[in-house]
Amino acid sequence: MTEQKRSEWNSNLAFMMAMIGSAVGLGNIWRFPNVLYSNGGGSFMIPYIVSLFLLGISFVLVEYAVGFKFKRSLARILFSVSKKLEPVAWFILLVVFLITTYYVCVVGWDLIYIVLSITKAWGANPDLYFTNNVLHATDSVSGIFTIVPTVLASVFAIWFIAWFILKRDLNEGIGRVSKILLPLLCIIVVGIVAFSLTLPGASIGYTQIFTPDWSALTNLDVWLAAFGQIVFSLSLGMAIAMTYASYLPEGSKLVDNALVVAFSNSGFEVFNSIGIFSILGFMTLSSGIPFNELVTEGTGLAFVVFPQVFNIMGDVAYIVGPLFFLCILFAGITSVIALLEGVCYSISEKFLIERKKTATAVCIVGFCISTIFATGLGSSILGVFDAFLNNFALLFAVLLECIIFGWIYKFDDLIETLNNNSKIKVGKTWKTVIKYILPICIFGLWAQGIYSTISSSNSFSTTIMIILTIVLIVVPVIFAKLPAINEHYYDV
Ligand code: PFF
Repeated sequence: MTEQKRSEWNSNLAFMMAMIGSAVGLGNIWRFPNVLYSNGGGSFMIPYIVSLFLLGISFVLVEYAVGFKFKRSLARILFSVSKKLEPVAWFILLVVFLITTYYVCVVGWDLIYIVLSITKAWGANPDLYFTNNVLHATDSVSGIFTIVPTVLASVFAIWFIAWFILKRDLNEGIGRVSKILLPLLCIIVVGIVAFSLTLPGASIGYTQIFTPDWSALTNLDVWLAAFGQIVFSLSLGMAIAMTYASYLPEGSKLVDNALVVAFSNSGFEVFNSIGIFSILGFMTLSSGIPFNELVTEGTGLAFVVFPQVFNIMGDVAYIVGPLFFLCILFAGITSVIALLEGVCYSISEKFLIERKKTATAVCIVGFCISTIFATGLGSSILGVFDAFLNNFALLFAVLLECIIFGWIYKFDDLIETLNNNSKIKVGKTWKTVIKYILPICIFGLWAQGIYSTISSSNSFSTTIMIILTIVLIVVPVIFAKLPAINEHYYDV
């Protein structure tokens, strides 16, 4: 059977919005403030900016160049580089897919909180409410057999929204949704930040960002944290930039585009954290809880600390609360569709399944896996998935991509592709970064990740990690071995 018609962005704006939407996600809103605070506040901006330029943008450029040059899906690109590499592509895509299965669940919790925030239904103790009334969390292994209906329903809703966007034509779906959600997200964030600055005690919070702890700069862990944040925030190695760039028409300015995307993403997280810190400053002043106890990461910040803040904020929280959770929802949805697009593209290109059917199949399987996180044991399993897939599997994927494109593939071809239409050019320094510096940094992060994951593991988490490891080895091999239906798939 022959190939289907290729998708192409109908405007550079659609591409840029989709790219920025893919990068701006939960990581910007709840991960960045914590990483910034625990790694020296203002002085953290130095390793952060160095990592952004030296490593983040460099790697995004590899993904852009590869996607744009090949105009194919990741699986087919790696097959073209070397037949033996196809399982690596399916490994990367499986990691991305599994990350999406729990990321959707967190966005689902957020959906529940949009509703709860309308009446501040979490009551006087948001911490207990989150664990007992929302998650129905239990430590007992039998909890895996108890489904939490509200979480399941919201997880279903997010998968449904993702499916509804993905099944459409590229510009009608991802392009249009990104063009709507991203500006809305920015308007809400600007509103929240402006409001937060008027709160009493705001300066207690935001001065933390501007008060540097210079001694942090000599700490290797701070540099690794900065790099880790860039990997997470720019969604490096997840085949997103590669997939989106493969849909670009000829003549696109790749380097210029990549810079705009990277700066917008970082600008967003720095700007947003001014709001988060100001709100936490207000909380410190009003409640007497020390600032450092408030700046937590992830679910703790969004679903426990913020509801506490809204409790003491008075009536205005009935507006600020739902807007805050709406922000997380918009940021989350544009990231979910980006994570899934690359997975769908590879499947649909190899097996010649039309876009709508692939999206349906991927979303159904994804929903089935996500139901695990909608059980009483769900949040514990989610923690293990997150630690293992992010600290270990995803970094391994980025490392493999550096080796493949820096060492196995003719790297100079990529330099030519990037420089062809761009005003800003790349050269030898970029090559050195990809071939040597980036793999060394990833290796450092990786070693740190393995150490922290192993040192905090117990029999429960070890069992899940062993299962995940087996799945991550077996499934990619099966996908690579399955014969392609697309007769052009094997054209190198
Ligand atoms: N960059 C997005 C975020 O910061 O949330 C998307 C993302 C990154 C999703 C990394 C998942 C992930 F593991």
